[in-house]
Amino acid sequence: MIKVKLTTKVDSDVLVVGLGSTGKKLQIESGAAQVDATSLLATLTTMGATGKADEVIKLPGKNTKLIVFTGLGKIESNYDPEVLRRAAGAAARELFGNKSAAFALPHKSVTEIAAIAEGASLGSYSFTQFLGNSKKDQKDPLTQISVVTKFADTAQAKAAARRAEIITEQTFLVRDLINTPPSHLTPDSFCNTMKKHGSKFGVKVEIINDAALRKGGYGGIIGVGQGSANPPRLLHVTYNPAKAKKRFAFVGKGITFDTGGLALKPAAGMEAMKADMSGAAAVIASVFAIAQLKLPIAVDGWAPLAENMVSDTATRPSDVITIYGGKTVEVLNPDAEGRLVLADALIKAAEVGKKAGGLDGIIDVATLTGAQVVALGSRTSAVMTNNEVFSNQFLAAAALSGEAFWPMPLPIELRASLDSPIADLANIGDRMGGMLVAGLFLKEFIDPQTPWLHLDIAGPAFNEKTAHGYTPVGGTGIALRSLVQLAELASSQS
Ligand code: BES
Ligand code: MN
Ligand code: ZN
Repeated sequence: MIKVKLTTKVDSDVLVVGLGSTGKKLQIESGAAQVDATSLLATLTTMGATGKADEVIKLPGKNTKLIVFTGLGKIESNYDPEVLRRAAGAAARELFGNKSAAFALPHKSVTEIAAIAEGASLGSYSFTQFLGNSKKDQKDPLTQISVVTKFADTAQAKAAARRAEIITEQTFLVRDLINTPPSHLTPDSFCNTMKKHGSKFGVKVEIINDAALRKGGYGGIIGVGQGSANPPRLLHVTYNPAKAKKRFAFVGKGITFDTGGLALKPAAGMEAMKADMSGAAAVIASVFAIAQLKLPIAVDGWAPLAENMVSDTATRPSDVITIYGGKTVEVLNPDAEGRLVLADALIKAAEVGKKAGGLDGIIDVATLTGAQVVALGSRTSAVMTNNEVFSNQFLAAAALSGEAFWPMPLPIELRASLDSPIADLANIGDRMGGMLVAGLFLKEFIDPQTPWLHLDIAGPAFNEKTAHGYTPVGGTGIALRSLVQLAELASSQS
């Protein structure tokens, strides 16, 4: 676990400062810390430093063992918090092997302090569970982060530091679960891990097992999970504070491994399908974070969990399943499995929400389509909705959190492609606009009166390329911060 504190004076033997460029010359931005800029700039110039984002340079320090320069890009009088978040994270990633570091980066308000704290702690991640000791030792991340600021004694700054710890703890839980191989992560073990964590924060945890799912008529989760030796689950967590201002339901796709089933995926790249439970991990951990922050917002988190495998019990293309609540679906392609497990969970979430007095919003989060990655690339996620106001509120939250989300339409003319001659719906439609078709499928399981968002995070959930900013290789934790920020925005509304 990472500790984040605030300090007015550099209190570590590693000091991190910013380095930017005016276009003509380099400039050191050390915020509330004093450094001997003239001699350092001469050295940096000789070294060919540029001050660009993701450039990190370590030098022996004068008053500290190390002084670390992290790129801010263009010199500004007010920095975008995301620039600071990334710069702090990039530096943290270069500091494996050190225990603590003091981050002295430019800031004018608590918003930027929060971003620096968050970036530094989110960058201090490594996944070493399966490494031998000699390899593990080289990967020990920072455990103590201090942010150098003259606001160190203010209540708001202290709250920002605590918030960064919470966001980081829960993001690391999401990343760990994504990175855990399917040999070690099953629907059942996912539930047990979450139960262990949830009990610490006063979150109620309910685990619906395969027998109960079969009996209850959850044909989507059962159908997708029936080819696997690891039986499916539906995980439900509840944070229900007294005097809640709003009630949300978050639903996350939890495929612990997606082989494609009988529509078997090609071997090349299949290994990335261990990340197909990223939505489930993000929604459950976001409920934990909202509980830890004690926000006056009630949230139910739902994770339909299954392993999509190939066997003599797997769903065949052309099988018909019955989703919870009674709609039938012709499974033309068993690789379009995420929408099937989500359909069950969306109906159940709405039913439970209604009993609790009604939902102010329902949000599903899923690594749903390859088409998402084709449309938006691997760093921008998609938002689809039945309610522009809710969507805009979410996009505002996402922008504050530094997560890239972009609105996508649900064109009505694509809906007919999901018609089936023998069931209420088919599970695939037009290949073109596949991300939107998937969204239209889910929309069939949403009450039109309830504001709904569908977040397709297929690309951004798992970084297959290189680390950047505060984002490591592997599981990223995307969507968690936007969900928490949305709950925070909703808390401050009347
Ligand atoms: N889990 C995949 C989507 C995915 C692809 C996530 C790439 C992350 C990276 C999903 O279950 C899937 O296989 N979708 C199919 C749907 C198609 C059969 C309609 C796809 O996108 O090809
Ligand atoms: Mn699939
Ligand atoms: Zn999938």
